[in-house]
Amino acid sequence: MNKLYSVAVAGATGLVGRTMIKVLEEFDFPVKELIPLASSRSAGTEVMFKNKPVKVKSLAEESFAGIDFALFSAGAGVSKEFGPKAALQGTVVIDNSSAFRMDADVPLVVPEVNPEDAFKHHGIIANPNCSTIQMVVVLKPLHDAYKIKRVVVSTYQSVTGAGKKGINQLEDEIAKQPLREKKFPHPIAYNVLPHIDVFLPDGYTKEERKMTDETKKIMGEDIPVTATTVRVPVVGGHSEAVNIEFEKPCQVEEIRSILKNAPGVTLQDDPGTNLYPLPIHAFGKNDVFVGRIRKDFTIPSGVNLWIVSDNIRKGAATNAVQIAQLLISRK
Ligand SMILES: NC(=O)c1ccc[n+]([C@@H]2O[C@H](COP(=O)([O-])OP(=O)(O)OC[C@H]3O[C@@H](n4cnc5c(N)ncnc54)[C@H](OP(=O)(O)O)[C@@H]3O)[C@@H](O)[C@H]2O)c1
Repeated sequence: MNKLYSVAVAGATGLVGRTMIKVLEEFDFPVKELIPLASSRSAGTEVMFKNKPVKVKSLAEESFAGIDFALFSAGAGVSKEFGPKAALQGTVVIDNSSAFRMDADVPLVVPEVNPEDAFKHHGIIANPNCSTIQMVVVLKPLHDAYKIKRVVVSTYQSVTGAGKKGINQLEDEIAKQPLREKKFPHPIAYNVLPHIDVFLPDGYTKEERKMTDETKKIMGEDIPVTATTVRVPVVGGHSEAVNIEFEKPCQVEEIRSILKNAPGVTLQDDPGTNLYPLPIHAFGKNDVFVGRIRKDFTIPSGVNLWIVSDNIRKGAATNAVQIAQLLISRK
């Protein structure tokens, strides 16, 4: 009989945690026992797994005894405190927060891009930032074909990237009712905020820095990325306008064919029928969608394209479950 695994989800009541549980079920991950963990506020509430209610427990050091995999999505503070403790007990931690992403001994993994790195872990594997994941899934096959020289990206990021509180602020503002909580520094309904995460001394935001630094670590090469990250009043996923400059000559038709065959990518590129990726269509799906593929006529070899993906799925939950699937595929 195939081996079954005990899986804990830390942050099980959150947007990402709930979706992790859904994806474990949809992918038919061989779960022996699911342990949903959250703060003491949610202890005793229930989440559904395979049509059965499972009680949420309060996250504690003892939660990880006998657990094979722990998928963390309860914020960087929780990951820093409990991730290493879980790993010391023999649990493989797949962490969605920014806590360990740039640590030299923690692999940062997107299975379509750098699967081998997952096997070099010492108990903790980091899931990259959501906007970086969807971009590198597209960059990787193009880098293999034409060698990327430089990337310029502008994002249009969903409020779901800010968790439950982000959705609540947008919904309350649209309904013109008092805010349950204020997640963004300005109104987000009918607005656009060029500000995600905190500002750094050089004027960039931490989200922008993540796209620059994490891309290099995942791709294993010094690919220069300059980013402007923007929050928009959208729920279904993150969108990105990406300009890529190549070292080798490229052809748009060939790029379409490469991306059509790339793992985890769905090509939606038919301007004649108004077909291009939209967050409203990406919502709830696991793939990265790409379209609006056009030659950049201002440089010798380059392309503009539009990438959309559900940040809670491929940008977080799906990628984490795929990492776990990858690890058990060689056991
Ligand atoms: N949203 C995204 O697009 C995205 C993408 C990639 C990574 N992430 C990362 O994933 C994490 C969660 O994001 P989210 O969007 O799911 O947030 P969320 O909807 O606000 O959920 C947060 C979860 O963390 C739990 N939690 C909070 N404080 C805790 C504590 N002290 N001890 C135990 N559990 C605690 C919450 O439990 P209670 O319900 O009990 O409060 C809830 O289950 C963050 O680190 C975020 O950076 C998010």
